[in-house]
Amino acid sequence: MSDGRPVSGPLKKFVFRGKSSNNGDIRGEYLEIVIPELLSAGYSFYTWPSAPLLSWYLWTQRRHLRGLRILELGCGTGLPGILAAKCGAHVTLTDSVALPRSLRHLAACCEANGLVPGRDIQLLGLAWGLFLADVHSLRPVDLILASDCFYEPSQFEEVISTVAYLLDGTDGRFLCAYQERSADWSIEALLKKWGLKGALLDLDSLSESSGVDYRALIGDRSLHLLEIISV
Ligand SMILES: C[S@@+](CC[C@H](N)C(=O)[O-])C[C@H]1O[C@@H](n2cnc3c(N)ncnc32)[C@H](O)[C@@H]1O
Repeated sequence: MSDGRPVSGPLKKFVFRGKSSNNGDIRGEYLEIVIPELLSAGYSFYTWPSAPLLSWYLWTQRRHLRGLRILELGCGTGLPGILAAKCGAHVTLTDSVALPRSLRHLAACCEANGLVPGRDIQLLGLAWGLFLADVHSLRPVDLILASDCFYEPSQFEEVISTVAYLLDGTDGRFLCAYQERSADWSIEALLKKWGLKGALLDLDSLSESSGVDYRALIGDRSLHLLEIISV
């Protein structure tokens, strides 16, 4: 869907298809999201491989997204959150408060999909591990999203402490897509320390039930979807 303000630079197109049935009437469902990408500008200016995987999962759950309060951490170009907003969720997209240019690019990504920041979707600078007043005002959330935010072990605890703070005492969930980059990296001990527990989602069964094979999205990369809750 490119009904927003035109954005300069190459546009990457992500297409989501599905079927719905209403009183025996089968209809095709289709959503197109375009993301302007700046490949040489930095981590947050293009869409990492985990983001289409997380978005695909959200698309399989699209009928349950309407009205949910969703917060995306380290969102970069914001593909999963933009998809959730298009499916009717109340979405706040966040990325590092120290990267104002990334946040401006994020606004352009939203606008390219007809979402007006401040009206249809909220944008906020949020640094992992920093608990400023505006972070408190984000509670409660139903769903926290992150794709490829576990790529630097020295920052794992900052991500996890932020999630633990936002989920504490709620039934909210944290859904995170990540790329396995080293067998030595683990967040298991940190989850325990922060009162969280996680379980990997079974992507093969989801593929079967949704009729869309996730392997076509991820190629030969080792990508996973993890669901984390507060214990
Ligand atoms: C590997 S990129 C992933 C971007 C996006 N989620 C995706 O999958 O396309 C990591 C993102 O985390 C953001 N980030 C890095 N350090 C951060 C921090 N301390 N607080 C908040 N965001 C941070 C970066 O700006 C970047 O957008």
